[in-house]
Amino acid sequence: MRGLRHRHAGTAGAAGVSGRPAAVGACDRAAAAALDAADPLARFAEEFHHPMDVRGGRQIYLCGHSLGLQPVAAATVVEQELRDWRRLAVSGHWSAERPWSTYHERLSGPLATLVGAAPDEVIAMNSLTVNLHLMMVSFFRPSGSRNCILLEKSAFPSDRYAVVSQLRFHGLDPDRHLIEVAPRADESCLRTEDLIDAIERHGERLALVLLPGVQYLTGQALELGAAIATARRCGAGIGLDLAHSIGNIPARLHDWGADFAVWCSYKYLNGGPGTIGGCFVHERHAHATDLPRFAGWWGHDAATRFLMGPDFAPMPGASGWQVSNPPILAAAPLVASLDLFERAGLQRLREKSIGLTGFLQAAIEARLGERAEIITPSAADARGCQLSIRLRRPACEAKRCHELLGAAGIVGDWREPDILRLAPAPLYNSYEDVLLAAEALERVA
Ligand SMILES: Cc1ncc(COP(=O)(O)O)c(C=O)c1O
Repeated sequence: MRGLRHRHAGTAGAAGVSGRPAAVGACDRAAAAALDAADPLARFAEEFHHPMDVRGGRQIYLCGHSLGLQPVAAATVVEQELRDWRRLAVSGHWSAERPWSTYHERLSGPLATLVGAAPDEVIAMNSLTVNLHLMMVSFFRPSGSRNCILLEKSAFPSDRYAVVSQLRFHGLDPDRHLIEVAPRADESCLRTEDLIDAIERHGERLALVLLPGVQYLTGQALELGAAIATARRCGAGIGLDLAHSIGNIPARLHDWGADFAVWCSYKYLNGGPGTIGGCFVHERHAHATDLPRFAGWWGHDAATRFLMGPDFAPMPGASGWQVSNPPILAAAPLVASLDLFERAGLQRLREKSIGLTGFLQAAIEARLGERAEIITPSAADARGCQLSIRLRRPACEAKRCHELLGAAGIVGDWREPDILRLAPAPLYNSYEDVLLAAEALERVA
């Protein structure tokens, strides 16, 4: 069997944790309706704009792992910033409804809650890959024989490009200094014990370990606490790409002790296409003014920034890694979205997410049986919203099934060579959405 159906024996804390909703036997319309009726978060779906299909019906949008839906309140916040710009021009930096000079600060608290950090450890800035480079400038510091980066084999291409270019920047050869950890032959997901073993085996050579919170292709949530502890024990730096986990799975970045994390805000955070990303820098580096960093005026001590002195004095904490002043119009929709997260509560969202994704899995398995293979782990604590599905058909036919699904108003996406990704988002999807998606998949696959 190709997929990893359950978290493997020997991985901590996972045994017996099923992603399926306990209350549901059959995955039928009645069960979906009952679950929706009992859902305390159901009303949040109305806080989003849902795209329409060609027949004028609401699309069933299961693509929040790529781009989240637009919060209805986003336009109000963006319009407020446009109004303040119109009305106040430059003085909006201090006198706008939400003063622009401190705009990024209002995002830190809600973002910190989502990633399990203190507000000073978190900053909204730039976009993900840019932040990854900035973090590697500080936290990938090859020295002597400790000059390698460990990455998972099917890492998101941008991460790999960034890592390879950083190695070359330091005069290192990616063929020798990039260590990639792959799943076992005929398995889709990385076993925690294999990851830990690889970190330990290469420990003395590792300057940096870079891991995803949720793997973009398989939907697997790695056991970050264990991996981070191992990397630190080996003396390696450790960074995380949380693109697919922020707003999806709660994290405990501070307690886990990662050196840094980076993320984008356009997926589960619903901040809009290309919106401002974010960064976590652990408190232990808050005052590390000796760390090399690529500086800019927005990272300079806010109290003396406008004295326009020649010498850079970074702010303590993650803020000290800022380079430029923040893009207000890009950040505004995120203000609206983070407000929804605060009102819904991450814990309640997570509980609903476990139910929704479990229901989707059960409905697909019941309807498609052997015709589909779900490669995402079944254990709730080994995945987030997303299911990655392989249809047992020749690749071109499977891709055609994905297109037919789209034509039926079900929006997921396709990743080459053969993965269909569907991700019910607890803020705006229902059990009915999930059931209709499984029924449509049964018809087309
Ligand atoms: C896992 C992961 N890492 C990195 C990126 C790149 O993000 P950005 O274009 O914001 O740099 C993406 C984009 O989808 C992603 O999914």
